[in-house]
Amino acid sequence: MSTSEHTTARRTILVTGASRGIGLALVEEALRRGAGRVYAGMRSPVDHPDGRVVPLLLDVTDPAQIETAVKEIDALDVVINNAGLGTYEDLADRAVLENHLAVNLYGPYDVTSAVLPLLARSGGEVVNILSLASLASLPMMPAYSISKAAALSLTQAQRALFAEHGVRVRAVLTGPTDTDMTRSLDIPKTSPRTVARAIFDGLESDQEDIFPDPMSASLEPHWASGVLKTLERANSGLRPAAADFLSYTFEVDQTPEQTFAAINDVRAWWSGELDGPTDTLGSEFTYTVPGIHYTKFRIAQLDPARRIAWQVLESWLSFTADQEEWTGTTITFDITGRQGGTVVTFTHEGLRPDHECYDVCANAWGEYINGSLRDLIATGTGRPSSFEGDEALASAPRPHDGR
Ligand SMILES: NC(=O)c1ccc[n+]([C@@H]2O[C@H](COP(=O)([O-])OP(=O)(O)OC[C@H]3O[C@@H](n4cnc5c(N)ncnc54)[C@H](OP(=O)(O)O)[C@@H]3O)[C@@H](O)[C@H]2O)c1
Repeated sequence: MSTSEHTTARRTILVTGASRGIGLALVEEALRRGAGRVYAGMRSPVDHPDGRVVPLLLDVTDPAQIETAVKEIDALDVVINNAGLGTYEDLADRAVLENHLAVNLYGPYDVTSAVLPLLARSGGEVVNILSLASLASLPMMPAYSISKAAALSLTQAQRALFAEHGVRVRAVLTGPTDTDMTRSLDIPKTSPRTVARAIFDGLESDQEDIFPDPMSASLEPHWASGVLKTLERANSGLRPAAADFLSYTFEVDQTPEQTFAAINDVRAWWSGELDGPTDTLGSEFTYTVPGIHYTKFRIAQLDPARRIAWQVLESWLSFTADQEEWTGTTITFDITGRQGGTVVTFTHEGLRPDHECYDVCANAWGEYINGSLRDLIATGTGRPSSFEGDEALASAPRPHDGR
């Protein structure tokens, strides 16, 4: 990606914990760099003189507030998970640890999960404000350190998992900054403004891990070749082998809306007999290739121009010992607008490589998704009958009759 794709100008940004400290400085810095809109998440929202700022009531530990806040956001390029709790204690009280985990781990997890569809749509990014305490525990802030270490692991996991949605995930490994959190510490500290500038510099230069102050920056030269980063890279390569799904991704020039409509027109790209509506949330439809394959789906998610999910309620395959291998699995289509076109990620969740049908099903899905469906979206004409097995088997008895 070029640097220009990461400029702050005109982007829409959500900052949590925006009332003071680093969060407030991030809001000001985003405005200074020409952000189009800044959603400022606060526990006690206050107005901002700049009309581009939209104050949002947002306690990151409150699921109802997260849901309401996200409903107010119609598009988003960047979420900055900044809200944080850091107290000085001795790990004697379990409730204190739980509070830190609630704000510093589950907070970013819940906020990011809620905005992920928006980020997938924009090809956006997640920025998690972590700490040097993510790397080595601070004895006077052990609960904080544990929560920030967990948040680093969350960041690494999201980075690997969200890549297929086209969403980047960045870690900010912040050192001592002059805010309320460190008020009682008599150590050298960097101003929140300097830290905020360095964070946006990191975003704009597409840094995966950002070291935004002199103390953290002193670690950066060894970071890329260090043991942590080396292991993270090696581990992310393990994911496909351990995957519990089958997935294909392709890109077309059409819009997410056109793509969504084409996928829902299942008869135009899939070959078997289809019975029931395929474009209505909550409805059920069946797919049958006589003698070979029967599946009953329920349309569990129909999020216009973003996501479609079909749950498999019943299934029958003629050629596997466990003929109901598909039952309980889910088919999803994630639709992401990118640079005027659309990225489609098809996933058959729960279809594992150790399933007997995996290879056959992977081939068949590959033909329909990368061939027929892609053609339908790109040219207006699918190839639903191109799968070679169908015609030969058309005269066989219906599976449910013969079972
Ligand atoms: N300062 C440092 O030296 C330092 C170093 C490394 C990392 N960090 C990280 O930088 C981030 C910002 O810290 P800071 O130094 O700016 O701290 P701060 O001055 O204490 O500000 C903390 C911010 O988080 C908000 N917050 C706390 N609990 C929240 C919740 N449940 N829901 C929503 N917002 C909540 C606060 O809101 P209220 O005003 O409502 O309390 C405030 O806006 C934190 O993630 C922190 O861990 C700071």
